[in-house]
Amino acid sequence: MNIIVCVDNKWGIGKNNGLLFHLPKDLQYFKEKTKNKIVVMGGNTLLSLPGSKPLPNRTNIVLSDEFKRDDCKVVETLEELKIELKKYNDDDIFIIGGAMFYATMLNYCDKAYVTKVDSVCEDATVFFPNLDDKSNWELESVSKPQEDSGYIIRYCVYRNKNKQSFFKIFD
Ligand SMILES: NC(=O)c1ccc[n+]([C@@H]2O[C@H](COP(=O)([O-])OP(=O)(O)OC[C@H]3O[C@@H](n4cnc5c(N)ncnc54)[C@H](OP(=O)(O)O)[C@@H]3O)[C@@H](O)[C@H]2O)c1
Repeated sequence: MNIIVCVDNKWGIGKNNGLLFHLPKDLQYFKEKTKNKIVVMGGNTLLSLPGSKPLPNRTNIVLSDEFKRDDCKVVETLEELKIELKKYNDDDIFIIGGAMFYATMLNYCDKAYVTKVDSVCEDATVFFPNLDDKSNWELESVSKPQEDSGYIIRYCVYRNKNKQSFFKIFD
């Protein structure tokens, strides 16, 4: 299982149920990584997407007990999520947010694709766990810095050296 996120220098990821930055190149990177894959998200993140609609060309799975949808798969509990995710190849699964759902799933992921934006958004309200402070997460690669909409961004890949199995938590 993979996790993909865009963070500022303080690991901020959002405010007012929206993103902190509009970054077309990072969006393209996200699209390339997740195209034709399984994207899994919490209910608020689905509602934060354009038109509150699932992402095209991906299998969208949402964890929420607040709503039902017929345009994507909604699961109400983590146990139901486990049954659903068992249908797919683990490497094809991407956890795409938000803060609450990232925190829930982080320990079960092998790899984290973290876009770091060299900026601090002082009004961020939701955060991703700081992987640089976690001994089990190892920084595997960092891209060259790139400019994106006036910001400097770097694509980082972290590896979890102590991954736990999501599929064993209810056994
Ligand atoms: N920077 C990035 O890369 C990035 C990516 C994605 C999202 N975001 C941002 O993150 C923010 C949204 O994050 P969020 O924390 O508010 O919402 P979220 O994680 O998207 O959704 C939270 C909801 O998901 C369900 N959920 C999540 N974990 C659960 C668990 N362990 N057990 C049961 N249900 C669970 C619950 O749904 P119900 O209450 O409906 O049952 C919960 O209210 C937005 O600002 C968004 O823009 C940033």
